[in-house]
Parts: sequence; structure tokens; C-alpha cells
Amino acid sequence: MTPSSTPSAATAAGARPTHHTVGEPLLSVRDLKVHFPTDDGLVKSVDGLSYDLAQGGTIGIVGESGSGKSVSSQAIMGLHRGTRAQLSGEIIFDGKDLLTIGDEELRQLRGRDIAMVFQDPLSALHPYYTVGNQIMEAYRVHHDVSKKAARTRTVEMLDRVGIPNASARVDQYPHEFSGGMRQRAMIAMALINDPRLIIADEPTTALDVTVQAQILDLLRGLQTEFGSSIIIITHDLGVVAEMAEQILVMYGGRAVERGSVDDIFYAPEHPYAWGLLSSMPRMDRVREERLRPIAGNPPSLINPPAGCVFNPRCPYVDEARLGCVSKPPAFDESSPHPVRCHIPHETRREIFQTKVKPTL
Ligand SMILES: Nc1ncnc2c1ncn2[C@@H]1O[C@H](COP(=O)(O)OP(=O)(O)O)[C@@H](O)[C@H]1O
Ligand SMILES: [Mg+2]
Repeated sequence: MTPSSTPSAATAAGARPTHHTVGEPLLSVRDLKVHFPTDDGLVKSVDGLSYDLAQGGTIGIVGESGSGKSVSSQAIMGLHRGTRAQLSGEIIFDGKDLLTIGDEELRQLRGRDIAMVFQDPLSALHPYYTVGNQIMEAYRVHHDVSKKAARTRTVEMLDRVGIPNASARVDQYPHEFSGGMRQRAMIAMALINDPRLIIADEPTTALDVTVQAQILDLLRGLQTEFGSSIIIITHDLGVVAEMAEQILVMYGGRAVERGSVDDIFYAPEHPYAWGLLSSMPRMDRVREERLRPIAGNPPSLINPPAGCVFNPRCPYVDEARLGCVSKPPAFDESSPHPVRCHIPHETRREIFQTKVKPTL
């Protein structure tokens, strides 16, 4: 991909960079649940999420707003600690369960081994301190070095993420940076300790397409250089197509489908994944053809629908003879890649080929 190509166009062309996954998982999430007690009832934001991420690999977590993407990644960073949130399951990182390790050990890991890039750099960068000072501090928390050494390293990092004239800009304040430059600065801050895992939560959502493509290019380049693993969270399938080799499709706090980028783009199994694909903008389609958002609303996380959480919005709910509305589907083992759906695989394939694919 060239920097000028739009991320959303990647799938249309079918051309993607190849990624390689090697070795044991760095991260294993097992049956993760994050529930929030509220006055209205227990909000089950994440309700039984499992996935693995290989060393150096990239997984894309996609789903509509409110599907539990951010809450699940905040759990990895330990950001629900000390709140009323109820967590269960396991988050095994490098052999340790992040849900049960001590606060001090977690503090050591956070920012050093696991770093996060947010959608809005202004929420991560303090307005009263220079960009350089904040990045230097992020480094000095984990490294016993002089201010001078930290500053040198910070300038190098700012330069590395493509900030022009880094040795001068290091002394500027966040508001003196453009949105794209702030996002680069946040990436520099996330990478300064050479983390093993980067969680990028909608890292380009606030940026215009050109800058978005540049930031994704930057992340990819840095990943190759630093060998970090990445969790990229986005509602934009185009972004995952550019970045990830594995995709996890989330709906209502659960994973409903898991597969390679090719699986999800060319042989998607879940009717929700079909809906996401149909609602995706494409460069080769004329403007008049409206995007088709998925009809209906996201499920209540307090009283989720019985059976399959997607059933009230699923156009094919009758295909499984009522199982959809009565029992939650397990992952279908007969499917070529894991999918939680009651519709028999052969029927799904036929629906996709005859009804869905021609409209994509
Ligand atoms: N502290 C909280 N208390 C209650 N509900 C919450 C809390 N944090 C998040 N939620 C709810 O959890 C759901 C999932 O949120 P989130 O993970 O942020 O979704 P997204 O997939 O858009 O990142 C949303 O419905 C949100 O309102
Ligand atoms: Mg989010």
C-alpha cells in the first residue's frame, strides 16, 4: 500500500501486504467477562471473549460501537482495577495472568511491555506539559537514565515517527501539533519503551483519510522494525484489512466470528459479518449507491436477547428453525473458521454466495 491509498479501498482491490505469524501466543484471552453494576442492572459489556495473539502478530477487533472492543482492551491494561467492574476469565500475557498479578507488577508491565494508542491523543497528552517532557517521563518511569539521555531518545523517537524538525518540536505543547502530528507523538510515546504489545484503539478514526493511511503505514513499519504484537481496534473493516492478519468480529460483548483477513473478507460466515461488509464504503462504487447500515439497534447489554444475541437483526433467523431465538450458539466446529451461528454451514455458504456476495 502506498501512503496515499485509502485504507477502505484495500479490500476492493484485494491487494494487501502479507504478514507472517511465528511462535507461541504472546497473549491468550480466555472467557473474559467485564460486567459493570449500574442502577439499571448489570451491564455485560464483555461476556465470554477468547482469542490468542502471536508474538509479532496483529489481530484486528472489529464491531459496531458499543460491542465491547474498548472495554475488553482496557482489561488487558488493567484499567478496570479499583473500579466497580467485575472481571473474570484469564488474560495470559507472557505466561502471567494480568487479571491476578499484583498492582506493582502490573505497573511495571504497563507502558513498558504493553502500551496503548488511543483515538484521541489529547486525552493522553496533558495540555500543560510539552510533548517532549511527557514522552521523556514515559521513558524515565521505566529506565534509570538522565534527563539528557531521555531527551535524546525522545527526539530520536519523534524523528522516527515522522515528525519534522523533531529537535525543535520536542519543546512544543500538544496544541501546537496538528491532529496527525499528535497521533504520531502518541505513537512515539507508546513505542519509546519498545513494548511487546501495542493496543491501538481506533488510532485513526479522528483523522482524515490521507493522514489515516500515513499513520497506518507508520504503525506497520514500526511493527516490522520493533517486532511488537498489535491489537488494532476499529469499527472500520478497511483498517483491519490494512493492518491485521487475524480478525475477531465482536457483537454484544462476544466474539461471533474469528478468522484470517481472507476468511472474513472472502468467505465470511456470520450474518453480522455480512452486514458489516455491506456497510463498508468502497472506492470502486458510485456515490449514489448508498451504504447499507445494518438495520436495527445494538443489543441491550443488561438484558441481551435470548438465543443468539444477533437474532433480532438477523435477516436469516428462520434458517435454523428457531434455535436462534432459544439457545446461544457455540462456535460451529463444522465451519472452516470459528463462527457462532446456528445456521448450518452449507446453508450459510449458499446464502452468502447467492444473496450477499452479489451485493457487495
Ligand atoms: N464504566 C462503565 N459502566 C457501565 N457501562 C459501561 C462502562 N464502560 C463501558 N460501558 C458500556 O459497555 C459497552 C461497550 O463499550 P465499549 O467497549 O466502549 O464499546 P466499543 O466497542 O465501542 O469500544 C457500551 O455499551 C458502554 O456503554
Ligand atoms: Mg471503543
